[in-house]
Amino acid sequence: MEARKILELAFILCLAATPVYSQRYSQTRRYISKEKKVTNLHFFFHDTLSGKNPSAVLVAQANRNKSGSQFGDVYAIDDPLTVGPELTSQVIGNAQGLYVFASQGIPSLVSIYDLGFTYGEFNGSSISVFSRNPVLETERELAVVGGRGKFSIIN
Ligand SMILES: *[C@@H]1O[C@H](CO)[C@@H](O)[C@H](O)[C@H]1NC(C)=O
Ligand SMILES: *[C@@H]1O[C@H](CO)[C@@H](O)[C@H](O)[C@H]1NC(C)=O
Repeated sequence: MEARKILELAFILCLAATPVYSQRYSQTRRYISKEKKVTNLHFFFHDTLSGKNPSAVLVAQANRNKSGSQFGDVYAIDDPLTVGPELTSQVIGNAQGLYVFASQGIPSLVSIYDLGFTYGEFNGSSISVFSRNPVLETERELAVVGGRGKFSIIN
């Protein structure tokens, strides 16, 4: 049996024009965006916990006897990102990293992962997520703390 959670993430990213750096270690300037771009990304995130090839594996667990609680569980993930809701649809990248069951109350995660794209316009670029992730809520906002390639904030 396979348990699959499909999480849909929509990101709105603002990419700004390149600031010019001189040969010094540090200089603070007023940030002026010459060109503001908005990219809407729509894809499906497959987190498979069981079956022959789980994409999320338990790597650490708290030493506790209280049953039912997952508090402290840490999973490492390499989850595929696809264009459509089916796992068989075009894979456009993967989410690699961790999530931790970080709440002692209502189950909730802290997610730390890199959404790397391997297909299309954003091949080679990635988005860094470090955020609370209240998985029981159907609509969630996750913090994007940076990115690589086309999503680099100093691009
Ligand atoms: C869990 O229970 C075992 C056996 O009853 C006990 O030896 C152990 O100390 C307990 N661990 C914790 C973290 O409470
Ligand atoms: C993505 O980029 C890598 C490295 O440049 C390249 O090897 C690969 O063929 C590209 N994949 C697609 C689907 O464009």
